[in-house]
Amino acid sequence: MTEQSPDRIRCLFSADAIAKRVDEVAGEIAASEPHELLIVVVLKGGYMFAADLSRALSRYGVRLEVEFISLSSYGSGRRSTGEVRVLWDIGTEVSGRDVLIIDDVLDSGLTLKFARDLMRQRGARRVAIAALIDKPVGRRVDIEGDYVGFTCPDYFVVGYGMDAGHAYRELPFVGVLVSEDEVGG
Ligand code: IMP
Ligand code: MG
Repeated sequence: MTEQSPDRIRCLFSADAIAKRVDEVAGEIAASEPHELLIVVVLKGGYMFAADLSRALSRYGVRLEVEFISLSSYGSGRRSTGEVRVLWDIGTEVSGRDVLIIDDVLDSGLTLKFARDLMRQRGARRVAIAALIDKPVGRRVDIEGDYVGFTCPDYFVVGYGMDAGHAYRELPFVGVLVSEDEVGG
């Protein structure tokens, strides 16, 4: 068994629970009647949530365009260091449009605040944030998600797009890594 095999991940939100919640969130977004909606997916962690959310939005009759942005905070630890840089930018104008930024986790808030400020500076009509997981305990800047899948304690979560050391993004559920001593036999 490798050091971090999937059997050392405790499920927090099952695939079924996620599917149900994604559908509800799509309903909330559809109810806001977005105008020329552009979704901006924050790579890499937001890809799975965005894929499911955009299909759910389609079922609610919402038309949209998709762009991707890759943002990175300086440093390689599990906590943002404060400075955010654009590694890959979107390829379209946002002026006058409703932009929905989609990411996996809203933790310190630094990444999504940066992304929201950037879209506002570029003249978006409205900018909303959808995050699958909200970890309010980690917050370092004043920001809230407009659409949140699940609120979670200050765990480091993996799966459904989220990684630990580049692993586990493919898992269909969200889980928490269980340490050796918790595993027991
Ligand atoms: P921020 O601290 O809100 O800026 O979060 C920045 C990024 O850190 C998120 O978009 C995630 O990619 C990553 N992140 C934060 N918490 C977790 C976690 O529990 N698991 C996996 N990635 C996380
Ligand atoms: Mg991310």
